[in-house]
Amino acid sequence: MSEAAAGDLSVSIWRGGADGAFARYQVPARASQTVLDVVTHVQRHIDPTLSYRFACRVGMCGSCAMTVNGRPRWTCRTHVSKVAEGGRLEIAPLANLPVIKDLAADMSPFFEKWQAAGGAFAPTLSRADPVEPIRPSEPDRVVADAGIECINCGVCYAGCDTVRWNAAYVGPAALNRAWTLMNDRRDGAQRERLAAVAADGGCHACHSHQSCQDFCPQSLSPTGAISGLKRMAMKAYLRGELKP
Ligand code: FES
Repeated sequence: MSEAAAGDLSVSIWRGGADGAFARYQVPARASQTVLDVVTHVQRHIDPTLSYRFACRVGMCGSCAMTVNGRPRWTCRTHVSKVAEGGRLEIAPLANLPVIKDLAADMSPFFEKWQAAGGAFAPTLSRADPVEPIRPSEPDRVVADAGIECINCGVCYAGCDTVRWNAAYVGPAALNRAWTLMNDRRDGAQRERLAAVAADGGCHACHSHQSCQDFCPQSLSPTGAISGLKRMAMKAYLRGELKP
């Protein structure tokens, strides 16, 4: 590794698995440089064994999320100039997930919980039936719209304090997804999904710290979605539709 030149960034990047350590690199600073550009420079020009994940580079796929100076972010949409403190960057894999290698986190627990919370749409019609029209102005559709832009990047999951100390908690993204489906009248698994999200590790495990909506790159409010599930579960319980 060469000595730092004037204008270089001093970048610490996590290397190895859970028992790895940060390694230091000097990366040329450039105009409009993103954190993903920095990681890519290290992989292409300094150490080709560096593992990381990205696809779209434009904030659509969600695969580039990492921890940047202690905060979960999309690295493709994070300009170095906005986050580098004194020209210093520390880049690590997403928290609250196992590390595969270097900057690649294992997303399996995230998606297993997403499925456990009833994240899959359960159709009530076949492809032979006509498409059911739903107007954008319908109240349920308006509620679902507020959370529908989630791309499962895992930023909220990595930033959630409750996920950190409660391994059973399914997390904000899974509950946000469940809430959008609970407001979709075309879905046929409402009762099962509500039972799933009202069980241990579901919506009632949330302490409303609101880190999820603070960190969400899409400015969504999983906390609001979780509150909606709590209200819906309580009403179902009072109607005798949900077992304690
Ligand atoms: S690379 Fe797709 S969101 Fe960043």
